[in-house]
Amino acid sequence: MSLFAAFDAERPAVPRVSVDPAFLIRDAEPRDVDALAALSAARNGRPLDRAREGMRRRLDFENALLLVATIGDAFLGYAGAQVLEPPPQPDGSATPSGWYLTGLVVAPAHRRRGVGAGLTSARMERLASHDVFAFMSDANRASIVLHENLGFARVLDHFAYPGVSFTGGSGSLYRLAHRGGDAKMA
Ligand SMILES: CC(C)(COP(=O)(O)OP(=O)(O)OC[C@H]1O[C@@H](n2cnc3c(N)ncnc32)[C@H](O)[C@@H]1OP(=O)(O)O)[C@@H](O)C(=O)NCCC(=O)NCCS
Repeated sequence: MSLFAAFDAERPAVPRVSVDPAFLIRDAEPRDVDALAALSAARNGRPLDRAREGMRRRLDFENALLLVATIGDAFLGYAGAQVLEPPPQPDGSATPSGWYLTGLVVAPAHRRRGVGAGLTSARMERLASHDVFAFMSDANRASIVLHENLGFARVLDHFAYPGVSFTGGSGSLYRLAHRGGDAKMA
């Protein structure tokens, strides 16, 4: 599995499962660890046992969300969010602390049917009373368009976060604009 989905401006002619009543988004539970780890390991090219350990730990995080999308027995994808307090940027400018969307992955066989947007909308609803941020690689156009369609706007170029290296070289910080009113950084 490649890291990013290929950008495709055409909408595929497949039914959107987000309107299927059997399409369910819920909090992740211990029984999801194997499916979460399999998807994460395949996407990030990491060993399965380390991914499993990481997901087990993630289920216990405080101030964090981990949602999964399922349809029947099929595991469609997952998405997280957590409170982060990033240190200042390399140029010394302040970085907002608060809720950040983290780790959205949809299984390749289920992409482009509204699952990623559904998982992101669900996180936005759960965080309705908060400012919400996200950072992503500038090379990940599929993800950028998905988030912009849902109301995120870029507020900072060349975003840096300890331990994160952006595939393609650079990443940007996004903020959910429609609740903050103004998409610019304070
Ligand atoms: C990015 C990703 C989560 C999108 O999930 P998805 O379920 O396919 O997305 P959706 O079907 O909900 O797409 C919603 C909208 O986002 C945009 N979009 C999503 N994938 C796209 C693609 N490959 N090319 C172009 N636009 C895309 C479209 O505007 C789409 O609406 P449309 O289908 O009506 O045109 C998925 O491709 C993925 O898991 N990629 C690898 C992991 C990743 O990059 N995660 C994001 C890290 S921040």
